[in-house]
Amino acid sequence: MSLHLPPVLVVDDEKNMRLSLQTMLRDEGYTTRLSESAENALELLATESFFMVITDARLGGMSGYELLGKIRSRWPDLPTLMLTAYATPKLAVEAIKAGAMDYLAKPFAPEELFHAVARCAERHKLLRENAALRARAGEVTSLEQIIGEAPAMRGIRQMIQTVAPTDARVMILGESGTGKELVAGAIHGLSQRRGNNYVRINCAAIPENLLESELFGHEKGAFTGALRQKLGRFEEADQGTIFLDEIADMSKPLQAKLLRFLEDGSFTRVGGTQELKVDVRLIAATNRNLTQAIQDETFREDLYHRLNVVQFHLPALRERGADVALLADYFLKLFRLKMNKNATTLAPATSQKLLSHNWPGNVRELRNVIERALILETTREIQPASLPEFERDQSRQKTQAIQAIAGESLDDALGRLEREIINHSLEANGFSLTRVAESLKLTRHALRYRMQRLNMKLASEPGPGRENTDF
Ligand SMILES: Nc1ncnc2c1ncn2[C@@H]1O[C@H](COP(=O)(O)OP(=O)(O)OP(=O)(O)O)[C@@H](O)[C@H]1O
Ligand SMILES: [Mg+2]
Repeated sequence: MSLHLPPVLVVDDEKNMRLSLQTMLRDEGYTTRLSESAENALELLATESFFMVITDARLGGMSGYELLGKIRSRWPDLPTLMLTAYATPKLAVEAIKAGAMDYLAKPFAPEELFHAVARCAERHKLLRENAALRARAGEVTSLEQIIGEAPAMRGIRQMIQTVAPTDARVMILGESGTGKELVAGAIHGLSQRRGNNYVRINCAAIPENLLESELFGHEKGAFTGALRQKLGRFEEADQGTIFLDEIADMSKPLQAKLLRFLEDGSFTRVGGTQELKVDVRLIAATNRNLTQAIQDETFREDLYHRLNVVQFHLPALRERGADVALLADYFLKLFRLKMNKNATTLAPATSQKLLSHNWPGNVRELRNVIERALILETTREIQPASLPEFERDQSRQKTQAIQAIAGESLDDALGRLEREIINHSLEANGFSLTRVAESLKLTRHALRYRMQRLNMKLASEPGPGRENTDF
């Protein structure tokens, strides 16, 4: 039952009670983490993951009720069980009001405890499954969600309307954060396939060796760990649309299999021989320069032509002029409602500052900047002081880059800069190659290749056994 569950956090100021709960739960197969105060529990909650919290109502410092209140506002999905000294209806009501999912009066029988914990485990599993389901399905969007009056953006909305109802394959290009996913979701939403599945798959987020079976499925026993037959995402998307995000990160052998599928619509599951056919519309996107990737022979040119029937190129935000202000207003309204804040407009100096920034992270960066500004703002207008120090950031980057070049060849300088960036990211990400690759928008494979080329050690590389859990 407790397989794959994170530990239970037990909060009680009496040592004996903590230990006896630990023993009882351990015998049922649950792992525990013990805490003697609410204050300490909150620290643990902020850094580790738990599937539920069991707390005594009366604790040394902050009470169990207060603890539950804080948990409810910060981790609303975390199930909690309150232990009270006496069984009175009043205490029960108070526990539930404070946010407990259940309560037990001391002394209680082990079965009562197990029953309550099992209910919480069930709830945890359900929430996790829902989250997994949401992550699998792509988000269907509408044209109104694509903000922008720059001619290029009007053109894109127009083209979505024209292309969506056809079955044409679509390639969406553009820098990171320019809205590629939004466009893909709108194309499906306006297509005749909108009543059927919209499946999104991020080719960069799935380890190379698993992506093929994720896309095309596998037969039982196809490889170690393939305990039963699994349908692929293409089958899941039958009659609907599949969105292959970060397509440039797909390995060459898989590109070949995708190409065969695009040519005649048929494929076989991994380890299978039966030819299967599905009716799927394909949308692909990447923020890489595909022309370059084709030249470097990391992306197949024939596949590119198959996918690139209709091409969308999303302009960088810095090329969209006054759309910056329009989008800033839009995000301001969006977050203001969610956060219940008073600021309703941007001060003129703030708009000015936004317009003069060059937005390397595009719309996503702007969205984050506005969200942060709203959190910081205390007046009714967003002041420039609530924005990050863009100019200084940029000038710092510039001087560093120029210093790097002084006295060295360009190749050496670039190599050194690249090494510094990777080292910095390794430290920031606890030396996990997976997370470094993610933050630098590379595949793990590409990251390893670069590090080898730069003579960097791969000391903390996890062994092959960890490959699957690492992602
Ligand atoms: N024109 C727009 N109007 C409103 N919101 C936008 C627009 N463009 C992008 N966004 C928002 O900006 C964020 C980034 O967009 P999206 O995820 O579509 O970018 P992307 O091009 O797929 O980036 P990446 O290459 O990094 O995956 C999202 O929150 C999206 O809703
Ligand atoms: Mg995207």
